[in-house]
Amino acid sequence: MPNTLSTVAYTVAAALFILSLSGLGNPETARRGNFFGIAGMLIALVATAAGQQFSGYGMLALALIPAALIGWVLASRVQMTEMPQLVALLHSFVGAAAVLVGFATLLKPNHTMIGAEAAIHTIEIYIGVCIGSVTFTGSVIAFAKLHGIIGGKPLILPARHLANIIVLLVTLWIGSQFVHAVETEQIARSLWLLGAATAITALLGIHMVMAIGGADMPVVVSMLNSYSGWAAAAAGFMLSNDLLIITGALVGSSGAILSYIMCKGMNRSFLSVILGGFGAAEGTAVEVEGEHREIQVDQTVSLIRNAKRIVIVPGYGMAVAQAQHTLSELTKDLQSNGVMVQFAIHPIAGRLPGHMNVLLAEANVSYDIVLEMDEINHEFPETDLVLVIGANDIVNPSAIDDPASTIAGMPVLEVWKAKDVIVMKRSMASGYAGIANPLFFKPNTQMLFGDAKKNVDAILTAYRSG
Ligand code: TAP
Repeated sequence: MPNTLSTVAYTVAAALFILSLSGLGNPETARRGNFFGIAGMLIALVATAAGQQFSGYGMLALALIPAALIGWVLASRVQMTEMPQLVALLHSFVGAAAVLVGFATLLKPNHTMIGAEAAIHTIEIYIGVCIGSVTFTGSVIAFAKLHGIIGGKPLILPARHLANIIVLLVTLWIGSQFVHAVETEQIARSLWLLGAATAITALLGIHMVMAIGGADMPVVVSMLNSYSGWAAAAAGFMLSNDLLIITGALVGSSGAILSYIMCKGMNRSFLSVILGGFGAAEGTAVEVEGEHREIQVDQTVSLIRNAKRIVIVPGYGMAVAQAQHTLSELTKDLQSNGVMVQFAIHPIAGRLPGHMNVLLAEANVSYDIVLEMDEINHEFPETDLVLVIGANDIVNPSAIDDPASTIAGMPVLEVWKAKDVIVMKRSMASGYAGIANPLFFKPNTQMLFGDAKKNVDAILTAYRSG
């Protein structure tokens, strides 16, 4: 393909990626956004493969066909609730790819570059490998934590911040040695130094994510998303591929913005999360004790019948139970009987950003009754009944009442201000953050135990038969 044609193809692909991101910002345009993304990626792949410098079609097919098949099988089998793990794993691939591209570029130097240009290229290799290595190990640990292979408790080593700073300084020093070794054509030494930097930044990635507690994992996933973008951009510089630089920068900056939005949603400072619990709550959390009240399906239906205004709070358990379709039917029945029904969405409900919005959209719940936390929090005192379905941490009053709680300061849905609250879950077990929830012991709260789908099915049947 002539150079001008591939430049046009790259520009079209870049424009499609930007349209894709803007489409994904709203549930109504998300499908179109996805389509733009797929089209952009197809154009990018074809243009790269047909590019002038490219000749290894056999190798490309060998890499592409099995990878596409594995990706297809994995993506079609993965449960919606396992998406974050898959995303973390995919980030680790980007990190590993940046490391490999860095080593390959070092081993096959571009002799046309001299002077400052050559020095900048060497620095690009070094930065790309370091970011790639942190992203790789950090993402593998995030995957293991999200998949429950490693526990969610933060690993707090003594003097951990000092250790991180020392690692950073050593990485900078190795970097200066590396640039000098490449300049003076000491190939073995430069390889050795790049290997040492890979190992040390790999340890940094492990340590950084191990130090982050379960409740902060959403931010880590989007932060690693951002890192993977910067790693891809660095690979783009090494390969002199403009489209990879643009795509990497788009992923890097959108991941950073998403991390910032999530930090705001959790009232955490971005720096404190990435530094692993810097400034996290100190002291012992208040013991939660008391007697909970249990409720059955028929009594739940009586409360529903008497309510004029109902707010439904979905959480991770609704996703596990796949209760959204029955909930959507129940909502329509209630609305046709004149009841005002709204859904309250916490920004970190579930296990990935926008998890609840996607499930409710899939079940055809109308967007205008799905409200964000800030829009609905002040309306709970006027609400007759709140149905909490498989949610726990996002409705935990300790975030407000207990400064020593690990979720202290995180804004939560203040459901306890409603007249009645029914919490549907299988047991008194804690949520993802691993802490007790005083909501379950409030005088206006009743627990409806069991699988959320089974209970919502039973509620719908009883409501219709009455
Ligand atoms: P959680 O606090 O994890 O609570 C979910 C509850 O659902 C559990 O307590 C569980 O209790 C219940 N449950 C599980 N399966 C169920 C089923 N089949 N039927 C009924 N209930 C079921 O979830 P949340 O309130 O949505 O809060 C989200 C949490 O996940 C936060 O801590 C957040 O930091 C974390 N997180 C979020 C993300 C993103 S980006 N959203 C990513 C990673 C982590 P039982 O076992 O008693 O049933």
